[in-house]
Amino acid sequence: MSKVTVVGAGNVGATCADVIAHKELCNELVLVDIKENFAEGKALDIWQTAPVDMYDTRITGSTADYSKTANSDVVVITSGLPRKPGMSRDDLIQTNAGIVKSVTENIIKYSPNAIIIVVSNPLDVMTYCAFLTAKIDSSRVFGMAGILDTARYRAFLATELNCSPKDIQAVLMGGHGDTMVPLPRYTTVAGIPVTELVAEDKLNAIVERTKKGGGEIVNLLGTSAWYAPGAAAAQMVEAILRDQKRIFPVCAWLQGEYGLKDVYLGVPVVLGKNGIEKIIELKLNDDEKKLLNESSVAVKEVMNVLDNLNQVPA
Ligand code: LAC
Repeated sequence: MSKVTVVGAGNVGATCADVIAHKELCNELVLVDIKENFAEGKALDIWQTAPVDMYDTRITGSTADYSKTANSDVVVITSGLPRKPGMSRDDLIQTNAGIVKSVTENIIKYSPNAIIIVVSNPLDVMTYCAFLTAKIDSSRVFGMAGILDTARYRAFLATELNCSPKDIQAVLMGGHGDTMVPLPRYTTVAGIPVTELVAEDKLNAIVERTKKGGGEIVNLLGTSAWYAPGAAAAQMVEAILRDQKRIFPVCAWLQGEYGLKDVYLGVPVVLGKNGIEKIIELKLNDDEKKLLNESSVAVKEVMNVLDNLNQVPA
């Protein structure tokens, strides 16, 4: 028996729940939202795809009744406002910190042993907010950004090379924002270094487009993305529930890794049934280290804003 809760039945949460259900990652899936009847409606609609698509994960919805989420193995937090055009992810901090704090309190009350995956923005700092609130080991509180950012990078490369995205392997580090650090040196196409297949100027343009990949969609849609973020969070749930020991870039609490301390930042990790089972330390060159340090400084600035907001006692 396994149980997953997705908090927030908006576009990202509902998509994540839909993917989890279709992949039959758990027996029981609870969708929670604060908006009256909203999660119930979304859950019912998703559940009615089960006889068509032939899966049996039971999905139910609840309007902020966290007792329904009791004993969840994994909880995905997607609650909070999305960006509008012209906004940075950091503009959301005040509103979303209050929401993420109260959601985390409720989750921990009913599922003290859960693994928590944060998806709300600003991602790195909302993960920190959940960590401070949950007061559990950082191996069980982490954020989804790296899989999404890497997916964007891989999708752009697949388009450029006219090849299958399945064959593109990549890792990307740093914060979920303009300071993210794609690593072309660690990008391969079916084992072939990408630098042998894509000219430097084209590759640089793809790296820059990746960094602004979320904003590109906000500008197109007037709100932020959901298919790729929802699927990426579901992939983390899968790695945990199936104890796959997959290696993904994940927003993790660093305690000296990469020479960085007390910061939530995207790094490659091994994900399994215990959550983050290992943080992998790559041998970065000086340029890459510099970019990662800059990203850490940018994230820490926003973490300080959160500390000063006093939303969460430090
Ligand atoms: C994005 C948002 C979800 O990158 O942060 O699309």
